[in-house]
Amino acid sequence: MTGSQTSHEPYAVVDLINAKRRGQRLTDGEVDWVIEAYTRDAVAEEQMSALAMAIAFQGLTPDELRRWTDAMIATGERLDFSGLSRPTADKHSTGGVGDKITLPLAPLVAACGVAVPQLSGRGLGHTGGTLDKLEAIPGWRAELSNAEMLAQLESVGAVICAAGTGLAPADQKLYALRDVTGTVEVIPLIASSIMSKKIAEGTGALVLDVKVGSGAFMKTLAEAQELAETMVRLGQGAGLSTVALLTDMSTPLGLSAGNALEVRESVEVLAGGGPPDVVELTLALAREMLGAAGRDDADPADKLADGSAMDIWQAMIRAQHGDPHADLPTAKETEVVTADTDGVLTSLDALAVGVAAWRLGAGRARKEDPVQAGAGVELHAKPGDHVRAGQPLLTLHTNTPERFARAKQALVRAYEIGPNAPERTGVVLDRVT
Ligand code: URA
Repeated sequence: MTGSQTSHEPYAVVDLINAKRRGQRLTDGEVDWVIEAYTRDAVAEEQMSALAMAIAFQGLTPDELRRWTDAMIATGERLDFSGLSRPTADKHSTGGVGDKITLPLAPLVAACGVAVPQLSGRGLGHTGGTLDKLEAIPGWRAELSNAEMLAQLESVGAVICAAGTGLAPADQKLYALRDVTGTVEVIPLIASSIMSKKIAEGTGALVLDVKVGSGAFMKTLAEAQELAETMVRLGQGAGLSTVALLTDMSTPLGLSAGNALEVRESVEVLAGGGPPDVVELTLALAREMLGAAGRDDADPADKLADGSAMDIWQAMIRAQHGDPHADLPTAKETEVVTADTDGVLTSLDALAVGVAAWRLGAGRARKEDPVQAGAGVELHAKPGDHVRAGQPLLTLHTNTPERFARAKQALVRAYEIGPNAPERTGVVLDRVT
């Protein structure tokens, strides 16, 4: 179909593009139609791309955004967890570097009596994907049918699996288009993309982890607040108990970025250890999920300490054919980046580490690319730590040593060492309800 109204379609896309470009509000009928028609390939990619760009400049009103999100949900199926014997809660992160929190969090919340249906994706660009991380575990299977997912939620209490193509298929098409047309970092498009999938998924409560900083979509607290408020409003408007935490992504979370490296760190957290920032954020999100699901009587810290979260992790991995005790893959080659002077590490940039891990093979440039399970970056110091000249700061891991040079280029200005310690802040910067 072209811009002119030559078919039996009720609207001409070009009229909608022009209206939005001029800052006009689209009608409910126009929004419903354009999303539905795009999903059945009756709106050309270049037309949707122009509309997305017009939205990037003009935005959507709250009513338009709600309608846009509902229209995306209506293109696919809706899951229903109401038959489960316990409440459900899910967490969604807007994506960051070293963000492995889903791995310890899902079994931890399940250990506290709330079922966690975590429908996840693979990574694209410098942010890792939860499924890529879990696929580092020998035998682990990401694809489950809806019936298998429900059965595992009832028997184990937690499931992390691939979001099927049935949920908001409009988003799957639109996200791929946004990725190549400079329209990813647009608040109404991010909010409708995330919330259409989460509302369609049918979780009873939702906690959003909105990342702020160099390694995140939202670089400033003000932008992140706007995104969080937009998503919380959409969730609550749909009757979904929704809360958002704004969390720091100026430096990587924990001490690793890369698939098997992050699984190893997650297991350390489940064993009662792990880096303090990963433990802090896991517990903060667990408490929010339990509160949103109406079960704040259990203390998640106890469930990390007494091993019950670890038991659920092992059951969850086994249920998806993984071996929780198998050795994790390691990269064949490593190179170390050392500190060039004595002092305090004042910053270690999340984006630079994420790009380096990606270039080492931990991430993919195109959807169909494979990832290396063992590739990534290991951190030996965090901002605030004292370092000595020559001391290892980072270890780079890959199977393909020709990647080291490009990875090291990404790290040229990745860190600063100064005389004074930076002001310490917690990982959680703000909360939006
Ligand atoms: N994650 C999503 O699912 N959609 C976006 O638009 C951005 C992050």
